[in-house]
Parts: sequence; C-alpha cells; structure tokens
Amino acid sequence: MMILRTTPEMRGQSRTWHRAGESVGFVPTMGFLHEGHLSLVRIAKERCDRVVLSIFVNPTQFGPNEDLAAYPRDFARDEALCRTAGVDAVFYPEVATMYAPDHSTWVVEEALTGVLCGASRPGHFRGVTTVVSKLFHIVEPDVAVFGRKDAQQALVIERMVRDLDFAVEIVVAPLVREADGLAMSSRNKYLSADERQRALSISRGLRQAVALYERGERVGAALCGAVAGEIAAAAGRIDYVELVARADLRPVAQVEGPVLLAVAARFGATRLIDNVFLG
Ligand code: PAJ
Repeated sequence: MMILRTTPEMRGQSRTWHRAGESVGFVPTMGFLHEGHLSLVRIAKERCDRVVLSIFVNPTQFGPNEDLAAYPRDFARDEALCRTAGVDAVFYPEVATMYAPDHSTWVVEEALTGVLCGASRPGHFRGVTTVVSKLFHIVEPDVAVFGRKDAQQALVIERMVRDLDFAVEIVVAPLVREADGLAMSSRNKYLSADERQRALSISRGLRQAVALYERGERVGAALCGAVAGEIAAAAGRIDYVELVARADLRPVAQVEGPVLLAVAARFGATRLIDNVFLG
C-alpha cells in the first residue's frame, strides 16, 4: 500500500493506473477510520480496480468554535486498517499541501446548503465542496464513494458534480451503525460512557419514527416529535429534527414521496448527526 503525501505523487499514480487501463475508486475521509469508512472502501473495491482513500482533516469546513484542533487523529491505526481493507494508496497531504497561505477560490453550492447542517454550521459546506473539488482534481477518480450518514453532504456533492461537470460517478453507501444502533462516527470517541448511553436516544427516536411511519403516520410533526421527545428525555440538546424532501431538502409537512428525517443533537460538547429515509 502506498502512502502519497504530495499532489504530483498522487496525480501521477492515478494517471499511471489509468494509462494501464485500470479504474480508480476514491473514498475521501478525515481519518480516525471506523467500519463506516471501511464499508465505503469495500464498495469502491467492488466497482474499481484500484482504491485511493484520503485522510485530511480539512480546516476550512470547521467553524471558529468547532473541534478542528481536537478532531481525533491516529495515522498508524488508520494505515493498518487501510492495509487490511485492501486500499491501494492512502493520500495523506499536509494542510500546506492543500491550501496555499493566500488560498482565495471557493466552490459554493447555493440551493442545498442553507438548511439542516448548513444552517447550524455556516461555511461548513463551502469547505466541504472546495476540498472535495480539490481532491477530485488531485486523485482524478472514476468513482467516489460517500456515506449516507452525511446525507446532506452526499446530496450537495452530487449536485456539485452535476453542475460543474466533474467526470466522476458518485456512489452513496448505506449508513453503518454500532450493534446498539448508534451511527458510527469518528466523533463518538468524544462521548463519555454516560453521554454515549444517552446518545442512543437519537437512533431509538428514529426507529420509533420508522415504526410510526410503518403504522401509517405521515404527519411530519408527529414523526419529528417522536424523535425530539426521545432526545429531550435523554437530556440531549437538539440542533434540528426535520423532515425534508430527499430531492432538494425543502421542508415538508407530510411524508409524500421520498423524504429524509434528519437529526443533529449535542450530548455534552459532542454534536452528532443521524437520519433515516422514509417514503
Ligand atoms: P468523514 O466524517 O471522515 O467521513 C468520510 C466518509 O465516510 C463520508 O462520506 C461519510 O458520510 C462516511 N461515513 C462516516 N460515517 C459513516 C457511517 N456510519 N456509515 C456510512 N458512512 C459513513 O465526511 C467527511 O469526512 C468530510 O466532510 C470529507 C467528505 C472527507 C471532506 O473533508
């Protein structure tokens, strides 16, 4: 497994593979890998001859009061996991490799990033779309795999790729959970034992909403209320619980067609997100 740290090395390797007729799959991450990330690697391996995984804690997608400095990092562990998973190359650039000190060009999606996480994390998606554009230009993948854990992010990336004619196919993979239902996340590492127990209220609330939906409930307030009730009972601080159309994230009052029930909540200082698809 190669570890590539510079743009010319990464782009050169990808072009070497392409010249040999091999396709390149790509899994962008911020590291501290877990089974959710590795599920994306498996999908990329099924679809492509070669798989590149990037590890880059992207400073531009963190707000001034967010957890950039504290974000968990363990390159040795990530490297071992990638090797076992059959990754061909890890792209592991420094911040200075990715951003010139006078970097001044941004990629901004304007229709889907004002709601949900975009509303509570101003500038977050500008950082994501910019870094993912840069990574696509450096890795030149045929296929890139994103997780549905970050459903809004996946939708924003699909829109960006369509609007700006990136020559990459986006695949969105299912959300992977711990055995007890907690959505896997690098940020789960921050949770104390008590917070982790209380954080299960998010997935429990979403399961209740799914059960209500299966019994015929279609009213957004009832479905969201079930989720919010569970989280509030576990003393979580709700950022949002919203029912939105899956195509364009516009708020909907009823389940009519494909919708996303999306949640963000804090337990202690840790902000967690989760979602289910309905309809
Ligand atoms: P990160 O949070 O490390 O996630 C990398 C990829 O793994 C994303 O596509 C995310 O949706 C997926 N993922 C994380 N947890 C998952 C889970 N439990 N089940 C399925 N997929 C999961 O998302 C980012 O990094 C960054 O914003 C990035 C796209 C790398 C840009 O900096």
